[in-house]
Amino acid sequence: MQHVGKEVKMAGWVQAVRKFGSITFVDLRDRYGITQLYFNEELNPRLDAQPLGREFVIQATGKVIERTNKNTKIPTGEVEIEVVDYVVMNSAATPPFTIEENTDGGDELRMKYRYLDLRRPTLKHNMELRYRVNRSVRNYLDGQGFWDIETPFLIRSTPEGARDFIVPSRMNQGQFYALPQSPQTFKQLLMVSGYDRYYQIVKCFRDEDLRADRQPEFTQIDCEMSFVEQEDVINIFEGLFKHVFNDVKGLEMKEAFPRMTWDEAMWHYGNDKPDIRFGMTINNIKTPMYGELEIADPTGGELWKSEFPVFNSAETILAINVPGCSEYTRKQLDEITEWVKRPQIGMSGLVYIKCNTDGTYKSSVDKFFPEDRLKAIASFCNAEAGSLILILAGAEPRTRKAMSELRLEMGNRLGLRKADEYKPLWVIDFPLFEHDEEENRWVARHHPFTSPKPEHIEWMNDLSKYSRIKANAYDMVLNGTEIGGGSIRIHQRDLQEKMFAALGMSKEEAQEKFGFLLGAFEYGAPPHGGLAFGFDRMCALIGGQEGIRDFIAFPKNNQGRDTMLDAPSSIDDKQRKELGL
Ligand code: AMO
Repeated sequence: MQHVGKEVKMAGWVQAVRKFGSITFVDLRDRYGITQLYFNEELNPRLDAQPLGREFVIQATGKVIERTNKNTKIPTGEVEIEVVDYVVMNSAATPPFTIEENTDGGDELRMKYRYLDLRRPTLKHNMELRYRVNRSVRNYLDGQGFWDIETPFLIRSTPEGARDFIVPSRMNQGQFYALPQSPQTFKQLLMVSGYDRYYQIVKCFRDEDLRADRQPEFTQIDCEMSFVEQEDVINIFEGLFKHVFNDVKGLEMKEAFPRMTWDEAMWHYGNDKPDIRFGMTINNIKTPMYGELEIADPTGGELWKSEFPVFNSAETILAINVPGCSEYTRKQLDEITEWVKRPQIGMSGLVYIKCNTDGTYKSSVDKFFPEDRLKAIASFCNAEAGSLILILAGAEPRTRKAMSELRLEMGNRLGLRKADEYKPLWVIDFPLFEHDEEENRWVARHHPFTSPKPEHIEWMNDLSKYSRIKANAYDMVLNGTEIGGGSIRIHQRDLQEKMFAALGMSKEEAQEKFGFLLGAFEYGAPPHGGLAFGFDRMCALIGGQEGIRDFIAFPKNNQGRDTMLDAPSSIDDKQRKELGL
């Protein structure tokens, strides 16, 4: 309103044209929003001479006046511009979808015409948010004495668990570069060089199957520090996260983030990125699998010696207590049963116990369990009158994974996973190794540069203890998404060689692939550690979404294609020849 009476010149895109006799209103869109232009043909006879259409680029000069019909929904809704003169700077073809908050364009179309999609308010808002997060991260790290140092994209492959993208070399025919899955080894080398606080907001490339929160090229906030222990790294980056949230979201997180060991996360939530916005934790109601965390049999002994064959033969039996759902109908229960039978979940069935509000119990396995047994299970699961207990039985780790999914699904159905509630935590003490069933060998759970806990190093000589070796590795988890992960690194040549050997690499192979790193460790490598945040994921979660695609200006689709560029594409024979392919 303070601009009323001023002469202004505005340029932008025509969002809509509304004609009422000799008066025309035009919604003009620019990066900042929508402004209404008011054309009076009696004053401005040129409008007919230069008709306007959707997405035309125009520049208008005129006077800011107060609107008679105010629009309280937009910031400029109290004023409009009485146009004195205007120029059409460019015309536009009819756009393939409406460029509005709720567009009629499907995913495919939006991706193909991404430059138009980016004109929509949602996308614009996301891009602005991304920029603000970027700036906030830089401010914080700058304040903490971190230097932004670039590392190369054309490198030799660094194993981080995914497949590499490969680039053929013209000058070295028959040889290939790999695009970095992360700058992992470079940042470690920078520590050897003495640049003890490094960061980079950097592209990483991984040829892996895509999901809503995964892109083949994505961005990390990659950090490394020397002379630190796990606690130092956790403190600095918890500080970063809090700073960014406060800065961008105005959300002050005062409390220290809770920490959960990997064992606890697997035990209570069935996965290593627990969503702790809601409870409904997993109860293990048969002899447990995870060594030290064993619990007693809920009723002290004979409980599971029932005639129910599914339970008797099951390796594990897991239960969740869903509060307030004892009145689920047959139809609702059948539907959940079908849900767990879907191939993605892969269970053969679901058992339930209803803890009725009148104090009685009703179960799908009534035939095998007398009421006092049902009651004992219910009480073990801390169920109350009105609870519904859902039980899955089968083999580890499949059943645990299925229960984890079912827990999240019930959380969704009950509206317990609120996008505007933020519950970060650290998951710590990850196992160093993971058994790759397909290849029947041990692989690094995080990456091969992660340091084992010092007290577990000697177990590296004993294959039977591999599953119990823990690493100084940690993940930051937010609302069920892993948004960052890191570790304290190995910085001694002999331990690094031991690690490569444990992963089944011969001495020669280790030397050939990682000679540069092993060599560097001989020239005074300081103890060091760090972490990387998924920048796209962080932005998406701050924006209240799980999918990262709309927080990236030009993303790939689920097949890894850029449909706008139509990439990847074939190359011509001349190019192929030059590359020796
Ligand atoms: P990591 O592989 O755990 O660690 O990756 C760090 C973080 O990057 C994000 N992320 C992804 N985001 C989008 N699309 C993907 N395909 C994708 N893959 C990973 C996740 C993840 O937490 N070099 C180590 C870090 C370190 O040890 O310092 C690394 O890359 O949010």
